[in-house]
Amino acid sequence: MPPIVPISEHTIKTSELAVEARGLTKTYDAGGSTIWALRSLDLRIGRGERVALLGKSGSGKSTLLNLLGGLDQPTSGTIRVAGADLHAMRPDAMARFRLETVGMIFQAYNLIDSRTALENVELPMIFAGRGKRARRARARDALAEVGLSDRLSHRPNQLSGGERQRVAIARALVNRPSVLLADEPTGNLDSTTAREVLDHLLDHLTQNKTTLIVVTHDKDLADLAAARIVRLHDGQIVSEDES
Ligand SMILES: Nc1ncnc2c1ncn2[C@@H]1O[C@H](COP(=O)(O)OP(=O)(O)OP(=O)(O)O)[C@@H](O)[C@H]1O
Ligand SMILES: [Mg+2]
Repeated sequence: MPPIVPISEHTIKTSELAVEARGLTKTYDAGGSTIWALRSLDLRIGRGERVALLGKSGSGKSTLLNLLGGLDQPTSGTIRVAGADLHAMRPDAMARFRLETVGMIFQAYNLIDSRTALENVELPMIFAGRGKRARRARARDALAEVGLSDRLSHRPNQLSGGERQRVAIARALVNRPSVLLADEPTGNLDSTTAREVLDHLLDHLTQNKTTLIVVTHDKDLADLAAARIVRLHDGQIVSEDES
């Protein structure tokens, strides 16, 4: 008889894991006091799984995404993403990981102001060493998919908030990452545009079997986008349920 394992343990074989965080802790020093952004958090996410991360402001959601995307380092604990141990990665491998393995949609877009929409979407492909014609074509397609064919040469300050968000989404998907980390990806869109962008995003994820971790305050978006909901409170996972 195999041992009985609680369902809450999320028993996914290690080879099928896209994300595995163990004992993840992140503290910040602020004016002599210590802020515990994440407290010994454990999380396992299977390949192709879609997870929504919910939690009130300050609960550690963006901190967690930044650590999983290799943008920041934990105070303690380990992270594996797509089979790679982030802690053990050399700088060149880490740069490639950020470009090719993960796509990130940030809460604050992080577009480059001096570049056009088309150039912003091209950037990850430039760093990945793709030829100019191929990357132009792919960037155009990616922008067309988010409904921005007529804004290719606009710079971010010539775009609305929702349009900037859509450029950021196109940029995050353009290298076809295996893991997409999205922080409030439709937070600045009206409900109709949000739904269109989300439908496009989900189609892309399904076609490419992309793993998704999406942070949102919107329970409807969580239900629509993710089969699994993880709730954070004070840097810890407090509950998990199916959506
Ligand atoms: N660089 C920093 N220095 C000090 N404290 C920080 C820093 N970054 C985040 N924090 C603190 O860590 C905690 C978690 O922040 P985080 O940005 O992860 O929250 P969040 O869940 O994404 O919130 P929101 O929903 O508002 O985006 C907060 O209390 C925040 O003030
Ligand atoms: Mg945040």
